[in-house]
Amino acid sequence: MTLATGIDLVDIAFWDRPPGERLADFARLRERGAPVFFAEPRVPLVRSGKGFYALVRHADVVEASRNAKVFSSEPAATSPEPPPWLAKVFGTPMVNMDDPAHARLRRIVFRAFTPKMLARIEDDIRATAARIVDDVIKDGPGDFVEQVAARLPIHVICSMMGIPEEKRPYVLSRIDAMTEYSGVRGSLASPRTMRLLAGNLKAIVDLHRLVARLGEARRQNPTDDLVSALVNANPDGERLSVKELGSFFDLLLVAGNETTRNALAHGLKLFTDHPDQRDLLLAEYDERISTAAEELVRYVSPIIQFRRTLTTDYELNGHALRAGDKVVLFYLAANRDPEVFTDPDAFDITRSPNPHVGFGGPGPHLCLGANLARMELRIMLRELFDRLPGLRASGEPEYLLSSFDNGITRLPYTWG
Ligand code: HEM
Repeated sequence: MTLATGIDLVDIAFWDRPPGERLADFARLRERGAPVFFAEPRVPLVRSGKGFYALVRHADVVEASRNAKVFSSEPAATSPEPPPWLAKVFGTPMVNMDDPAHARLRRIVFRAFTPKMLARIEDDIRATAARIVDDVIKDGPGDFVEQVAARLPIHVICSMMGIPEEKRPYVLSRIDAMTEYSGVRGSLASPRTMRLLAGNLKAIVDLHRLVARLGEARRQNPTDDLVSALVNANPDGERLSVKELGSFFDLLLVAGNETTRNALAHGLKLFTDHPDQRDLLLAEYDERISTAAEELVRYVSPIIQFRRTLTTDYELNGHALRAGDKVVLFYLAANRDPEVFTDPDAFDITRSPNPHVGFGGPGPHLCLGANLARMELRIMLRELFDRLPGLRASGEPEYLLSSFDNGITRLPYTWG
C-alpha cells in the first residue's frame, strides 16, 4: 500500500471491490499527477518483487506505449512477470518482445489479420453467431456468458487456426484452466494459487502439443488455412517455428478470447442499464455500430493493464524514472481521463473522436486483433438484437476477480 494514498493496487482485495469504487480510487491517483509507486513482495515463481509505478493518465499511457525504445516489453508485458524458465520452455509470446524480434514475428503473423483474411472469416462469424442465437432460442435464457459471450471468440480463433470441431471442447477446457489461474495470479502465493498455476502450465503444454501436431501436419501438407501460412515461408523467407506457433496460439487464446467475451458480456449489461443508448443504436445500427463498439471498448477496458520496463533513465510527467524501473499502464484509468474524454463516466455510443487506449496505446504493440474484435462485436450484437428484440440482462453480473481481465463470469439474461 502507498502511505500517501491508502490505495493498494497490488492487493487482490482491491480488485474485489465494486467497479465504481475502484474507478474512484483511480481518479484520485490521476489527480495526484506524478506516477505513484506500488511495492510488490517477492514470491518465488509468481512475482519478481520489484514493484511498479502506476500510469493512470491518458497522456502517460500514450507516451509509454509510443516510446518502446525506453518503455520495453521485455522481459514481460504481463504481470506478474513470468520466470525466465517459462520462456525457455514455451517460447516468448510477441507481446513480451521488443524489436527487431517482435517486428519479425509481427510481419509473419500479420497475415492472420489482413482485410482479405478478415473478409474470408466474416461469413463464418455470421454463421456462428446465427447458430449461437438458434441454440439460445432452443435452450431458453440462462447465463449469457456461457451461452453467448464465451462461444463466439473461441470458435473464431479455432476456425482461424484450423482446429477441428471435435477438438474444440478440449481446447475450451484447457482455456478454462488458464482463465482460472489468470484470475488469481496477481494474488500472493497460496496453495490454491500454486495448484492453479500447475493447472495453467499443464494447459499450456496441452495446447502447444495440439498446435505443434497441426503445424507439423501443415508443413508436410499445406492447405489454405492460417497455420499452413504461418509455418511455411512468407515471400521474405520468414516462417514460424513450431515452438513459435505454440506461443502464438496461446497469445491468440489469451488476447482474443477473454477480451472479446468480456466486451460482449459488459455490452449486454451496459445496453440494459442505458436503454436510451440501446434505442439510439438500434434505430440506425449500421451508422452507429462503429462508434458504439469503440465506446464499449473504452468504457469497459476489457484488458485492465500491461507492463513495461525502462531501458534508460527517463522523465515522465515531471517524475524521474530510472533504468530498470517498472511501469504498469492502466488502460482502465486512462480511458476515464477527463483531460481527454468529456464526461468520461457517461456511456455515449456517439462519442467521436474517441482516442481510447482499450486496444493499447499507439505503438508497435497496438492490438493486432482490433479489427477482428470490432467485427465480432458488430455481427454478434446485430444477430442478438435482430432476433431477440427484448434482450436484456435480468440480474447483476458476477465479476472475475482479476487485476488483468475486466471479466464477467456469469450474467443472467432474458428476452421476454
Ligand atoms: C475487445 C477485444 C480486445 C481488446 C480489448 C484487446 C486489447 C489488447 C491490448 C491492450 C493490447 C496491447 C498489448 C501491449 O501494448 O503490450 C493487445 C495486443 C494484442 N492483441 Fe488484442 N485485444 C482484443 C482482441 C483481440 C483479438 C480478437 C485478437 C486476436 C484473435 C487479439 C490479438 C492481440 C495480439 C496478437 C496482441 C499483441 C500485439 C503485439 O504485441 O504486437 N486481440 N490487445
